[in-house]
Amino acid sequence: MTKTRNWKPQTALVHGGTLRSGFGETAEAMYLTQGYVYETAQAAEARFKGEEPGFIYSRYANPTVDMFEKRMCALEGAEDARATASGMAAVSAALLCSVKAGDHIVAARALFGSCRWVVETLAPRYGIEATLIDGTDIANWEKAVRPNTKLFFLESPTNPTLEVVDIAAVAALANSIGARVIVDNVFATPLQQKPLQLGAHIVVYSATKHIDGQGRCLGGVILSDKKWIDENLHDYFRHTGPSLSPFNAWTLLKGLETLPLRVRQQTESAGKIADFLAGRPEIARLIYPGRADHPQADIVRKQMSGGSTLICLDVKGGKQAAFALQNALDIVLISNNLGDAKSLITHPATTTHKNLSDEARAELGIGPGTLRLSVGLEDTDDLLADIEQALKAAKE
Ligand SMILES: Cc1ncc(COP(=O)(O)O)c(C=O)c1O
Repeated sequence: MTKTRNWKPQTALVHGGTLRSGFGETAEAMYLTQGYVYETAQAAEARFKGEEPGFIYSRYANPTVDMFEKRMCALEGAEDARATASGMAAVSAALLCSVKAGDHIVAARALFGSCRWVVETLAPRYGIEATLIDGTDIANWEKAVRPNTKLFFLESPTNPTLEVVDIAAVAALANSIGARVIVDNVFATPLQQKPLQLGAHIVVYSATKHIDGQGRCLGGVILSDKKWIDENLHDYFRHTGPSLSPFNAWTLLKGLETLPLRVRQQTESAGKIADFLAGRPEIARLIYPGRADHPQADIVRKQMSGGSTLICLDVKGGKQAAFALQNALDIVLISNNLGDAKSLITHPATTTHKNLSDEARAELGIGPGTLRLSVGLEDTDDLLADIEQALKAAKE
């Protein structure tokens, strides 16, 4: 039985999409199977013809993966979804299934490195041109449009500088020229920003981040209207196989149950840590979407319902000071990951964004002293004490 009613998000995240077997299990069942059997040859024929519902092969669909997709639809308010093996499988499938040779993509240049590679390096190999712009100004999107522009792609807030893009304005422009908008909503989480309600056509997630949120498995998901998914993703998934494993789908389903509790707590802690850091003499720049001094606070208020679990900061003293601060931290761990129960700190210039040129990094506001802090579920006072002692130690 598939249950998805008119529930509030917290309820949908616990019960949405549940497919209960004849055993009446409480927790979602993990269907670790590649294939399915048929009572008769006629039943197999009917299922392949689409005359009878049911599963055929787990590269196409699987009951545990189906529960995850339905639960994500209930949360996002989307008609349909396809789960993928990783966030990058979701981004690349959504992008490549939206365009063909001769089409043009406009993308905000502040993108996660691998997303930028797909747009800048992979797509042109297949005759798909891309223009990267500063997405924070809607005039740049307008200027980049060409007669063959079919797709706009953006991330908001961006990684790592937490800039925001006006999703409703980009969607209105896309609609006026018959193009589509894909939003990578990883940093906002499905709880704090609803791109489909703002007019975007497709939303993608790395479920690896807050949705799992406990550092266990990779996953991704693409959400959109049923027609677009049927016409554009269905065959791609069947024939190229970016499918999510049932084991990972089960882990992500359990992650969804606690997503609101975790994101609320992590955001509250991040807000307090951002306020603390903003007042410290060691900090040259602090960007946090929940603060009034965020460079685009008006857009944050318009399109996000909360702050962020992430903070971007620049320490005075460049790379040396940034490394010293990272090394002096005790609870906060050095990692390129984010959205985890454990607080994690990243030096983007030498890790996640090391492949960009110095100019490209400077354009994105990533300097030698820039750090990205992903706030976890530890006690806020312990985190504040850890950061304070590390700031002092780094100065010595
Ligand atoms: C904004 C953003 N999009 C996409 C991805 C890719 O996700 P995954 O690592 O699950 O492939 C990441 C990963 O760090 C990310 O930060």
